[in-house]
Amino acid sequence: LSNVLGFIGKKQNSFLASDSAEDFLVVFKGNIENGEELKKWLAEEGLLTEGEATTTKLLVQTVKYYYKGKLEETIKDVLDKVQGIFTLGVFTKQEPGKVVAVTKDSSLVIGLGDENNFIASDIISLLPYTKKCMLINSKEVCVLTPEEIKVTTISGEIASKEIFDVSWNGADKGSYEHFMLKEIEEQPAGFRTNLSGRVVNNQVKFESLTLSSEIVNRWKKIFIVACGTSYHAGLIGKGVFESLLHIPVEVEIASEFSYRGPLINKDTLVIVISQSGETADTLAALREAKSKGASVLAITNVLTSTIGRESDYSVYIWSGPEIAIASTKAFTAMLLVEYLLALYIGQIKGTVGDTQAKEIIGALFALPDLAAKILNSTEQYEKIAQKYKEHTNAFFLGRGFDWPLSLEGALKLKETSYVHAEGYPAGEFKHGSLALVTDDTFIIALCVQKNTYEKTLANVKECRARGAKVLAIALEGDKEVTQYVDDVIYLPKVNNFIAPILTVIPLQLLAYNISKARGCNVDQPRNLVKSIVIE
Ligand code: G6P
Repeated sequence: LSNVLGFIGKKQNSFLASDSAEDFLVVFKGNIENGEELKKWLAEEGLLTEGEATTTKLLVQTVKYYYKGKLEETIKDVLDKVQGIFTLGVFTKQEPGKVVAVTKDSSLVIGLGDENNFIASDIISLLPYTKKCMLINSKEVCVLTPEEIKVTTISGEIASKEIFDVSWNGADKGSYEHFMLKEIEEQPAGFRTNLSGRVVNNQVKFESLTLSSEIVNRWKKIFIVACGTSYHAGLIGKGVFESLLHIPVEVEIASEFSYRGPLINKDTLVIVISQSGETADTLAALREAKSKGASVLAITNVLTSTIGRESDYSVYIWSGPEIAIASTKAFTAMLLVEYLLALYIGQIKGTVGDTQAKEIIGALFALPDLAAKILNSTEQYEKIAQKYKEHTNAFFLGRGFDWPLSLEGALKLKETSYVHAEGYPAGEFKHGSLALVTDDTFIIALCVQKNTYEKTLANVKECRARGAKVLAIALEGDKEVTQYVDDVIYLPKVNNFIAPILTVIPLQLLAYNISKARGCNVDQPRNLVKSIVIE
């Protein structure tokens, strides 16, 4: 029976269940908030005979309870009864050849094939089957047969839907051993794509965004809200936006955003950053921001994603599908887009003058070649990985712009290599964490930012004096650092302000090589998924 529903997205936390008679089948992805209530109700109705019911089993029984001969009517009752954020596909033997699908505040995409039609929670999952897609909004009811697709609103009116062709090439590893390495190496090309057509006569423009001075001058405060790697991109964004726009910026982890009752109003710009555009916490923050009247701008890799669609404005990071769980090329593309966006808004506001714009744009255009230079000399990483792979505790230290990158470097190492790693503001390290340093400790010191260089070096000396092994990331030509560390990875000389876009690349390569050296599953680390659609 499970073959009846093409079980797309299995690896991405979706679940399949049928009733014991195999009359009904449900595929489900998401989070149900009233599971206990459903369990109690179904038990009272005598529909829960099995001991421990999974969420998907509860849904099957709920579908069965409401079924009166037409699945598309049943699903409306199910939507009323079940609380949460989810996507469902349902099938019954009593209506063979038909699948009904719906999403409640999550994502649902229909793929149109030659002989079959498909449901999935994101476009990437569909690419091996078809490139013709249709995006479904919350609570629209889709009825699919191999020949036909009908989409209606919850009240039964036909919803007009656009069918579009996806231009990506899908998930092909080519000659690479791992997607992560392929994606790291795609960064120079990604930078070129992001820059192409976006700068004319030193003026930045975006294909998907037009802002007026009236709009940008209204914004008195910016919030950047995101999760994981995207949150780290936001921390760099704070420095970029504050410096170029002279507006205070707060950066918030999406899952924490609503708890403090953030002080936002119609004069606030909330920038949500999400590679997938489907992360539930970020989506919830976006909705909260909108409900308080703020303008919401999404930076995303999937403009057609729920986050892209629900935001007032969207900017695309042009990364193409990112398959490895550990995000790499999307991170640097997010950073690049933040610089471009800050320039764009700053030029409209008048806080970025021509000379400054020219200097930064010049530096941005040098990025693809500088990144290629880093990627052309990667021989040292294998040796370094062999040397440090047994350390199970690592601290990444940095100040200023190097600090968020220390968080990102630590996250990459944790995700890919199962090494306990922490990113730390180097100056804060002495207030406690220094007590953990022994001769087993691995320190990765980010010594790139000029204005914090001497101070970071002082922290490095403190750690080394206590036996730590230190690997530094420093700028080409820096001889001083060699006196205080065990190894150095050099970056080509780069403009200090845009350096973060390059500084992270050695950290990605380090995590990749240590992961390989430790025999870990580089692309699919245990317990992690690419896109987290539950809060
Ligand atoms: C998951 C992924 C991370 C990603 C985070 C946010 O945890 O494993 O790589 O940074 O979600 O995802 P988003 O798609 O919103 O950027």
